[in-house]
Amino acid sequence: MDYGKYVAQRAKDIEISTIRYFFNMVKEVEGAISLCIGEPDFTTPSHINEAAVQSLNEGRTFYTANAGHYRLRQEICDFLNRRYQLTYKPESEIIVTVGASQAIDVAIRTLIEPGDEVLIPQPAFVAYGPCTLLAGGTPVYVPTYIEDNFVLKPDVLEKYITPRSKLLILPYPNNPTGAVMTEEELKAIAGIVKKHDLLVVADEIYSELTYGIEHTAFAKIDEMWERTITINGFSKSYAMTGWRLGYVAAPEELAQQILKVHQYNVACAPTISQYAGIEAMRNGDGDIASMRKEYDKRRKFLVTSLREMGLQCFEPKGAFYAFPSIKETGLTSEEFAKRLLWEGKVAVVPGSAFGESGEGFVRLSYATSMEDLEEAVKRIKSFLNSL
Ligand SMILES: Cc1ncc(COP(=O)(O)O)c(C=O)c1O
Repeated sequence: MDYGKYVAQRAKDIEISTIRYFFNMVKEVEGAISLCIGEPDFTTPSHINEAAVQSLNEGRTFYTANAGHYRLRQEICDFLNRRYQLTYKPESEIIVTVGASQAIDVAIRTLIEPGDEVLIPQPAFVAYGPCTLLAGGTPVYVPTYIEDNFVLKPDVLEKYITPRSKLLILPYPNNPTGAVMTEEELKAIAGIVKKHDLLVVADEIYSELTYGIEHTAFAKIDEMWERTITINGFSKSYAMTGWRLGYVAAPEELAQQILKVHQYNVACAPTISQYAGIEAMRNGDGDIASMRKEYDKRRKFLVTSLREMGLQCFEPKGAFYAFPSIKETGLTSEEFAKRLLWEGKVAVVPGSAFGESGEGFVRLSYATSMEDLEEAVKRIKSFLNSL
């Protein structure tokens, strides 16, 4: 049967992420160590699991409100205020979503009309472009450079703005580079946002994972609250990827529009996960702190090791990725990643998976045990020596 004629062009126009290709290939290479997935190696803290089990035992197996359980929305507001000095109303400005992934999708779909341009700093997390295309919009990739520590620069951003630009995605701490933006740097971007009357989707899913620098929420910058849709979630900070829990925080008028798209999309986030989320927000600060400490140890080890091998590696101050340059090897990032997997038995993601600006780099996740990291480093070193 020719299914091609049935499938919508917008689905044909997007592709499966290259990360999945490498993730699947790892299984084909016996003994390979995977540094390719952006997922904590920790299991969810047990008190969070217990809260979820308790909710089941109490029979809480029904839908919640579309925007999420009110108590969870209150906890999210407390958290955003306590950690980032942001103020949102739980009754109308928070929507609990199925991971930050769904939050990105519903935010973009609520705002973008055919022909609208979405500015996306690149290298970029793989979902922003496809979500924009599925909404009928046009992704416009704005390069960031290692020379600028992969921070979005206002003068570069401005070059890509046209009368059709509507939305800027601001994803810091960044996947795949590990870059963070300081308050001063964000203020410079805020100036451009205001000048060109843009809205911002601030994907701050890694906000709790910064090292030696406090995260600044974009919505906290002067006059940016009203222009920002903040996205965050539980996957990275609480090691809760499988629970599929995230949220959107936005000014009421925007949030209420997003809520309609969310309602017809998923009705609500999983109830059991929402109970887990309440416990995470109430009593999970200590868990985050101990995981952050461990990531930081691995981060230092990995960056130092990569530099000792002669690879140029800027210091990532957020998330859990290192993004060294492999340009010196003369290989493309895809050739490098494929050969490292087959010959060196270590899986990393080629920078090209994150767009053109990622070419010449590879992404290594250090959300992996120290033992595996140490072995991976040995293997990468001997692979480089063999070239
Ligand atoms: C930058 C970024 N945003 C969003 C997500 C999606 O996270 P979630 O598990 O909450 O859907 C990820 C996951 O890798 C990510 O790296």
